[in-house]
Amino acid sequence: MPSAATITFHSNSPPAASAVLAYLNGQYLPRSAATIPVEDRGFIFGDGVYEVWRVVNGRLFETDRHLSRLAFGLGELRIAAPDIVRRQVLDEVAERLLAESGLTVGEATLYVEITRGVAPRTHQFPPAGTAPTVFATVNRFVPPNDVRARGASAITAPDVRWLRCDIKTIQLLPNVMAKQAAAERGAIEAIMIRDGMVTEGSHANVVGVLNGEIRTHPLDNLILPGITRAIVLEIAQTLSIPVREEAFAEGDIARLDECFLAGTTSDVMPIVRVNDRPIGSGTPGPITMRLFNGFRAHLDASCSAVPAPA
Ligand code: PDD
Repeated sequence: MPSAATITFHSNSPPAASAVLAYLNGQYLPRSAATIPVEDRGFIFGDGVYEVWRVVNGRLFETDRHLSRLAFGLGELRIAAPDIVRRQVLDEVAERLLAESGLTVGEATLYVEITRGVAPRTHQFPPAGTAPTVFATVNRFVPPNDVRARGASAITAPDVRWLRCDIKTIQLLPNVMAKQAAAERGAIEAIMIRDGMVTEGSHANVVGVLNGEIRTHPLDNLILPGITRAIVLEIAQTLSIPVREEAFAEGDIARLDECFLAGTTSDVMPIVRVNDRPIGSGTPGPITMRLFNGFRAHLDASCSAVPAPA
């Protein structure tokens, strides 16, 4: 019998006009009333995965790519995939959450978290048949356009994460510590360094422009395969900007012509200072801004496309 004590989820984003709704294990309820048992393995072990979708005017961006990354993570962790990993169910949940939270106009994000469920604390998996916990909610999103116009600052920080950074787990303590270190130095991101090479940021992929070429860490176990990263690289190819998916060294940062973040909540964000030293001209670079404009156009076009008849 799970304990009656519960945990409540709070967002730090400004409240929407109407009360924000949550979805928890098949039920819709005000987010302030959504609670989970303290024996949830997400709470006890960080034993779960999550996804964040960008939403424009009620339409999810890149639904399938995020869903397949979620399914991949569940498979790697051997958590049974719940219904929400099916596109039709996700669409229904998202539609209701957005509509009833007053978020069908303008920008928002959809957060989905799945944990291995509720069970007495033992490190090994709980008995077969333990139902995963499924939680989803939505938040108003304001794109950071003023920061983009000026360009943002970053710091470097050691990448102390485990060796499966390709799985989007809810275990984010190294990311939290790195982002906090950045925030304490007035920066928006920590560029993480492993074995002298740039891997990614605490919550976004890191891309450099070096000698006219785009450089970013290859897809392997050391970075999250970012959806924004993938789209930006596709756009670069259509713009005939050379792309090399090869890690660059910490020592190369000072030589970069441009640097930017790619992520669902960053879009394409120019980084103009790293550890208080300017990158290139110290202003948002031309390749970065071409890629941002291409990305924004793609985001708007795909979220306004008329859905195909069922
Ligand atoms: N973060 N790398 C890390 C470590 C991330 O956490 C994220 C996303 C990305 C970019 O992935 P995508 O382009 O698919 O969003 C890269 C989300 C937004 C978050 O934790 O809030």
